[in-house]
Amino acid sequence: MESNDKQSKSKLFHTMTFGCQMNINDSERLAGQLRTIGYESTDNVEQADLILINTCCVRESAEKKIHGRIGEMKRLKLVNPNLIIGVVGCMAQKDKDKILKKFSHVNLVMGTHNIHQLAELVEKIEQSRERVLAVWDQAERLAPDVPTVRKGQISAWVPIMYGCNNFCTYCIVPYVRGRERSRPLNDIVAEVRQLGADGFKEITLLGQNVNSYGKDNESQADFADLLQAIDQIDTITRIRYMTSHPRDMNDKVIETIMRSQKICEHFHLPVQAGSDYILERMNRGYNTEYYRQLVSKIREAIPGASLTTDIIVGFPGETEENFLETLEFVKSIRYDAAYTFLYSQRSGTPAAKYADQVSLPVKKARLQQLMAVQNEISLEINRQYVGKTVEVLVEGPSKNDERKLMGRTRTNKIVLWEKTGQEVAGGLVNIQIDTAQTWILKGRLI
Ligand code: SAH
Ligand code: SF4
Ligand code: F3S
Repeated sequence: MESNDKQSKSKLFHTMTFGCQMNINDSERLAGQLRTIGYESTDNVEQADLILINTCCVRESAEKKIHGRIGEMKRLKLVNPNLIIGVVGCMAQKDKDKILKKFSHVNLVMGTHNIHQLAELVEKIEQSRERVLAVWDQAERLAPDVPTVRKGQISAWVPIMYGCNNFCTYCIVPYVRGRERSRPLNDIVAEVRQLGADGFKEITLLGQNVNSYGKDNESQADFADLLQAIDQIDTITRIRYMTSHPRDMNDKVIETIMRSQKICEHFHLPVQAGSDYILERMNRGYNTEYYRQLVSKIREAIPGASLTTDIIVGFPGETEENFLETLEFVKSIRYDAAYTFLYSQRSGTPAAKYADQVSLPVKKARLQQLMAVQNEISLEINRQYVGKTVEVLVEGPSKNDERKLMGRTRTNKIVLWEKTGQEVAGGLVNIQIDTAQTWILKGRLI
């Protein structure tokens, strides 16, 4: 049966995005290019003429899920032999040959350095019906900017740099994203200005290590300078950034945030482990003492700032004692929230070859323990919001309940409240908090 969508001339595409915010933004840039060659987006995968799977390979669990998803697409290809299926992004970069071999229904394999070529590659496939492989081993200095079609209308992602130079010993990202490349400050400022003119209110500056912004180019601007430049743009009400590496977070950045009205008081500082021995083996470039001092400095300069982190459990060589150090560390820092992961062996990284791998049951037990401790702390911290009034940027209806609206505090807490009709998406409202849960706050408009 032909649907209305199909009767219109434009072809339809569907994207599935896995992984980090950088990938979400890449998908927006894929969508922007597809629009220039006559494609419109559809949420219904069954109707799509083109399906793009934008992949992540940071952990094995992500890869397994993606393999499953690519496999499922074979069914659609049998129904519609003209369907174009593309596997793009980090996993495509890493496993191009494996993907081509394992999935004969995949037409396009495109790596992280080739994203700007999508329109041209899709047209090539439309004409020739050949399978196309586009995976450059290295990036051009800076890939050309391409049109972007954003998912939201309030909050936007803005990449400020690509790649990573850190080579944490567990991590695959530097291998699949290449070396650090910073975008010119003027380009970023121009993009944010345009976003403001288009009605966006909040922007999140993206990079694997935003604090090393500018170190790779001749312009003298560093991350703090960039923050200051963006802070001047009137139409934007909130500025966020991620991720900042604790080693490179500096006084100039902290002072900039302290002075700014717009840069939110939320610090995401991935610690990864609370044991000096493990941190050393991870090649993180700091120890727990340094990190504690950094946190004290931030809390002194910006009281009320929230603090979140990433932690890996079961890194090779992590003894029970090392793990207990991490637990104690988490208890003493008191994070607002922690994103916790089982260490996943990534072939090609140094840690994958370490002899003293931790067994899966031990890793799982440690993760449970850590999450229990952190959830209790998160809830305790969130309870302190009860009775208080917070400024919330209205994002839109809650996913699970149409009668409720969703927004975030400056400290990045998710807030839900009963819609009154007075709110406008993108506006700031004051919400009095009535209930606190581990991950969300609930309240009412005042
Ligand atoms: N550049 C960012 C993080 C990118 S990956 C940073 O340095 O903070 C996001 C998170 O995934 C990391 O912080 C880390 O906690 C986790 N991660 C990365 N590689 C991993 C691996 N091999 N196993 C488990 N978790 C991993
Ligand atoms: Fe991976 Fe470390 Fe780079 Fe983050 S800083 S992307 S964890 S290598
Ligand atoms: Fe995954 Fe690539 Fe991001 S590996 S976490 S999508 S940079």
